[in-house]
Amino acid sequence: MADLNTESAPLPPGSTIGILGGGQLGRMLSQAATRLGFKTHIYCPDEKSPAGEVASKWTRADYMDFEAVAKFTMAVDVVTYEWENIPVECADAVTEAGGDLFPGRRALEVAQDRLSEKRYLKSLAIDTAPFMPVASDEALGMAINVAGLPAILKTRRFGYDGKGQSVIHDEDDASIAWEAMDGTPAIMEGFVPFEREISVILARSAYETCLYDPAENEHRDGVLRRSTVPASISKSVCDEAGFIACKIAEDLDYIGVLAVEFFVENSGHLRVNEIAPRVHNSGHWTIEACRMSQFEAHIRAIAGWPLGTTKRHSDAMMQNLIGEEATHWLDHVKNSDASLTLYGKKVKREGRKMGHVTYLKPRSD
Ligand SMILES: Nc1ncnc2c1ncn2[C@@H]1O[C@H](COP(=O)(O)OP(=O)(O)O)[C@@H](O)[C@H]1O
Ligand SMILES: [Mg+2]
Repeated sequence: MADLNTESAPLPPGSTIGILGGGQLGRMLSQAATRLGFKTHIYCPDEKSPAGEVASKWTRADYMDFEAVAKFTMAVDVVTYEWENIPVECADAVTEAGGDLFPGRRALEVAQDRLSEKRYLKSLAIDTAPFMPVASDEALGMAINVAGLPAILKTRRFGYDGKGQSVIHDEDDASIAWEAMDGTPAIMEGFVPFEREISVILARSAYETCLYDPAENEHRDGVLRRSTVPASISKSVCDEAGFIACKIAEDLDYIGVLAVEFFVENSGHLRVNEIAPRVHNSGHWTIEACRMSQFEAHIRAIAGWPLGTTKRHSDAMMQNLIGEEATHWLDHVKNSDASLTLYGKKVKREGRKMGHVTYLKPRSD
């Protein structure tokens, strides 16, 4: 470990950024870090890793292998994560080995359990969907009586891309949804009749906080389909969303990029859907439409560098390439309006995020 206090001295180029998690977010973080002259070291248990393949080093070990985590920590100058389901015990092993972990353990702990996340937001007086923990089918029945229908039953942990969720319209759906949980701790949420969904990507260092313009997000089958910027929201909704994101980041004493997903109701009222203590799919448009991408912003923040600008120079639309869609990569390459990013993955299952394509237009606002 370099003897370095990121609060006072920026991490010099040539230092190594350690990244827990080996997916496409780690890959794009690694690419941004490399551009700034850093080396990167990926830690993940996976046999194939989109991030490991582009990093200077890759440790393939389990997150609960604390000896391996300590060795990794000692080999890098700062540690971050690209996945919110890294076990908190792994985060603790980093700090116990003397490593600096950004964002910290608390952000991880809060964001990886939908129930603690919602309770935490409530403690900050931030509105969410109505929610209740559900540990039995009787409890589900009671939750439905209180919150009404439609509702959504979700696993508390390890849900992503809409997985581990069932929408409940009636009593039959409720029993099917409960069966599908198979005893996994769950949370029931009232269905928010939102007008649109937006997300705010925020970057915070020990010295400053910057916000990207909110993106408007469309999901299909629970998976992000498209993010468009600017979002069709008023200035007051935009300001309110930014204010809420800053409130969360400040309370968590957050260092790095934080994403906050919101439901926007007809009245303009905002409810936070979830927070992601990491770079986010709905921020991929920043690679082409801003001078500094969310990935660079994250690296700068954790390295104690000045953050630079989150200003957007163009309007943007980012579309995910899901599953077999990525086989049409050549069409995107031929289209001079499209910027293509592929993650180097194979289609192992339908619905897998394989890449994305971004279209820019001159800025309209
Ligand atoms: N309480 C809710 N009310 C209405 N729609 C919801 C609710 N919860 C989730 N959704 C829809 O499902 C999508 C995925 O849910 P989310 O909780 O963000 O899970 P994931 O972790 O898989 O992204 C949301 O972006 C939204 O479109
Ligand atoms: Mg989500």
